Amino acid sequence: MGFVIAIDGPAAAGKGTLSRRIAQTYGFQHLDTGLTYRATAKALLDAGLPLDDEQVAEKVAREVDLGGLDRSVLARHEIGEAASKIAVMPSVRRALVEAQQAFSRREPGVVLDGRDIGTVVCPSSPVKLYVTASPEVRAKRRFDEIVAAGGEADLDAIFADVKKRDERDIGRADSPLKPADDAHLLDTSEMSIEAAFQAAKSLIDAALKEI
Ligand code: DC
Repeated sequence: MGFVIAIDGPAAAGKGTLSRRIAQTYGFQHLDTGLTYRATAKALLDAGLPLDDEQVAEKVAREVDLGGLDRSVLARHEIGEAASKIAVMPSVRRALVEAQQAFSRREPGVVLDGRDIGTVVCPSSPVKLYVTASPEVRAKRRFDEIVAAGGEADLDAIFADVKKRDERDIGRADSPLKPADDAHLLDTSEMSIEAAFQAAKSLIDAALKEI
């Protein structure tokens, strides 16, 4: 069993950037578990299948290939919306959690980021971070990202979307978004990514000394 770093938090809190940097620093493999929900949603959309049939969605979830997840293909807004709808289905979650747990056993260690890593997927992980920021800051970051990539964006619409996504992630009955009791909270509202990384690194280094 490798060393698992669990990173949870709401959409657009900076988990992805932080997770990739941690994985690179420690030579660990990284899985953005949101992509597994997105890949399932995209496969359903591409095949013209319904998003509200749990049995069909579970079957598709069981066929997701963790090696073929590409954020650039899965980033589209409609895919994120569809992903958050199928993420409420317990049998879809069970299928994807099993695949995520298999990934988490890779050596020498892994970084998993998502919503329920510290609470459900890898509850015995030695390092759990809960990365958050205010909805205003998260919406502005997403807006800046889109504009920097040459796209057009509407800050009010993105803000409304961030709030709606939070409600769905926090309010679902199965594995709702919440910090594990033993998670370290990192509020990045007024913290640079560098400061967040340094805080995470101290916690990880301390946990690595204990094994
Ligand atoms: O992080 P993201 O935007 O790529 O996630 C897309 C959706 O997938 C999100 O609305 C909630 C869901 N998700 C989840 O339920 N559990 C996870 N571990 C990761 C994502």
